[in-house]
Amino acid sequence: MTAPAFATEQAARSALLETARALAPADLNAGRAGNLSVRWHRGGRDGLLLTPSATDYGAMSEDDIAWLPFAPDEPAADDDAPGCPAEWFGPRPPSSEWRIHHDLQRAQPGIGAVVHAHAPYASTLACLAQVQRDGVPAFHYMVAVAGGDSIPCAPYASFGSARLSALALEALRERRACLLANHGMVAVGASLAAAFELALEVEWLCRVYWQALQAGCPVLLDAGQIGEALARFALYRAGRH
Ligand code: 13P
Repeated sequence: MTAPAFATEQAARSALLETARALAPADLNAGRAGNLSVRWHRGGRDGLLLTPSATDYGAMSEDDIAWLPFAPDEPAADDDAPGCPAEWFGPRPPSSEWRIHHDLQRAQPGIGAVVHAHAPYASTLACLAQVQRDGVPAFHYMVAVAGGDSIPCAPYASFGSARLSALALEALRERRACLLANHGMVAVGASLAAAFELALEVEWLCRVYWQALQAGCPVLLDAGQIGEALARFALYRAGRH
């Protein structure tokens, strides 16, 4: 498991609130939509801190953030009924998308944070049939930032459902970000700062792809070109370009 990014639970709560409030000014979200989590170990149990459901970010306090432990068993795939996890702690119910946050962090120990947002360009593209089929393709080398040659789009399922969580998990098996059909986007990272930065980069890519579609027919990079970008990207991030 990755080392916790914060020295104290209070520091993790502050960072979650600050990042949640940064979503709208960064044009990543509107109103109460979206939700964020960080991995947090408490009392000998692995779990996560997660923003509360249906709460105005301006009115949200650090104490409103819920903590939930990882469930010992796989959730039933057909358990699509709205509702809270079996166990959670906090004054307000955790996000209705608790399954996405919980299931991703439990399945992939390298994930330390998850950001889900209704970013306008990502959400726009996630409504298009061609993007639901092919994802955002390699129209720009920065698509590699999500970990592959496209940013996939998970098929539509009701918000808050176990099915949506399973579809997002599948789309993120080999990626760090995906779109959710007719809904929004999810970005993950080792840290909250990394997940937030990736959400910004994905939204920028979605905006530029949308613009390119308006202006004409975008030229796509071939497998060799995007493969080279992926290899260079790893070096670039390590400061060895
Ligand atoms: P919550 O307010 O329950 O986090 O849900 C918002 C959302 O974006 C659902 O997809």
